Parts: sequence; C-alpha cells; structure tokens
Amino acid sequence: MSNTMVAATSAPPVLKVDCISRVYDDGAVNALKDVSLEIRRGEYVAIMGPSGSGKSTLLNMLGALDRPSSGEIYFEGEPLSKLADLDRFRSQKLGFVFQSFYLLPTLTAIENVQIPMFETARSARERVERARELLESVGMAHRLNHMPGKLSVGERQRVAVARSLANDPAILLADEPTGNLDSKSGSDVLALFDKLHRERGMTLVVITHSAEVARRAERIIAIRDGRIVDDPRGASGW
Ligand SMILES: Nc1ncnc2c1ncn2[C@@H]1O[C@H](COP(=O)(O)OP(=O)(O)OP(=O)(O)O)[C@@H](O)[C@H]1O
Ligand SMILES: [Mg+2]
Repeated sequence: MSNTMVAATSAPPVLKVDCISRVYDDGAVNALKDVSLEIRRGEYVAIMGPSGSGKSTLLNMLGALDRPSSGEIYFEGEPLSKLADLDRFRSQKLGFVFQSFYLLPTLTAIENVQIPMFETARSARERVERARELLESVGMAHRLNHMPGKLSVGERQRVAVARSLANDPAILLADEPTGNLDSKSGSDVLALFDKLHRERGMTLVVITHSAEVARRAERIIAIRDGRIVDDPRGASGW
C-alpha cells in the first residue's frame, strides 16, 4: 500500500502513542520521555536504538505488558488505560515474539502453538488444525511433535512466530527476534516477517539494535536515551 493510500484511510491507526513517559525506581530512571508515534494498518516498522535507549520499555507499552507513567496509548482508537482485562486483550489482538522464545518446554511444538487458542471458542479439533497450518506456514510441518529442547534455536523461533499468529493478531510485536539466532536462522525469521507483511498485510513492529534487521522495514524509528530522534512518519510525516 502506498503512503498516500495509507494516509487517505479514515480508520484510526492500529496503535497511537500519545506523549508517553515511563519512569522507574520512583523517578530515578526516565526510560521514556514524551514519546509519540502512530502505527497504521499494514505498516512494517522497525524501532532502532542502542542498548538501554528504551526500546523494550516502549515495546512493553505498545503491547500493554506495562503501563506508561503518563500519556496514553490507543489501540484502534480505544485508550488502553480503560481496558479492564489486558490479558484477554493481548491474547486476542496482539502477537508477540521475543528474543528468548518463551516456549513451554514440556509441550510439543503443535501444543505450544495452541496455547493462545485455549481461551477462544475454537474446538479442540479446530485448534489442532490451525496449529498444524501455522506450523506448515513457517516451514515446521516436519517437527509438529518435537519438544522445544529438541529443536534448533532457529526452529524454536519459528514455532514462536507460529504461536504469535494463533489468534490472527492485528499487529505483531517483536523484541530482538533474531537476537539469539545465528545469521542463517535470523535471515529465515526475517524472511518469514517479509512474507507475513507482503502476503497477509500483517502490521509489524520489530525492535532491534541491528541496522541489518531494521533495513527490512519500510519505516525506521530511531530512539536514543528515551526519546524518538528520527521518524520519517513523525509529527507532520503523515
Ligand atoms: N524494571 C526496571 N527498573 C528500573 N530500570 C529499568 C527497568 N527496566 C529498564 N530499566 C532501565 O531503563 C532503560 C531502558 O531500558 P530498556 O530495557 O527499555 O532498553 P533497551 O533499549 O531495550 O536495551 P537493550 O538493547 O539492551 O535491550 C535502561 O537504562 C534500563 O536500565
Ligand atoms: Mg531491550
């Protein structure tokens, strides 16, 4: 979708961050300072910055894993601060991929992918079928019944990507998704993101300190010391 088309749509952005700050330790640490940004449907955004610049803090806010100290975040126009059940919101609307996968070690690949679907109306049969399809789509059809400990690290991350898609999220949030991977496995995961974006129009936000990873995105937001220092779509960018 061209930028003009995106700008012309009247739908609210998937995520709108309105002047948020996050302090830790009773104000001793100002991890985010007056950060504002908008993520539109179908965008592929990278958020890039050095270690300690506030990237994970920002992702935790975008993903409703933590609340800002001030400011507001809107998901499809609705303020997150008004949501009573954040766990349910996260599991139904957001997909997460982290550097360290967080697969449950005692469950097989196909069971791990079903976890987010347990609180939905899907039947057991539908869950299994969908988990199988998702694992096929990430090239893991041959390892459905493997335990995570018997998968390569790159395979583990592909299972985690399949799991993140279980409930058809509106947006995929990834924090250093290739941080624990060798370069080949890292490229495989990035190719998977490209495919999700291109073929399904998935909205992606990838946090990284790697310029190589950030280059895959259409828009790179740079963050330094808790502030956005560069955003091609910032302020008047739309
Ligand atoms: N729970 C916390 N309590 C206190 N300070 C914190 C907490 N979490 C993060 N910080 C501090 O906030 C700042 C931003 O941390 P954050 O984890 O967001 O950085 P980051 O950009 O993700 O870094 P990295 O690339 O190393 O993952 C850092 O200075 C960090 O020490
Ligand atoms: Mg981090």
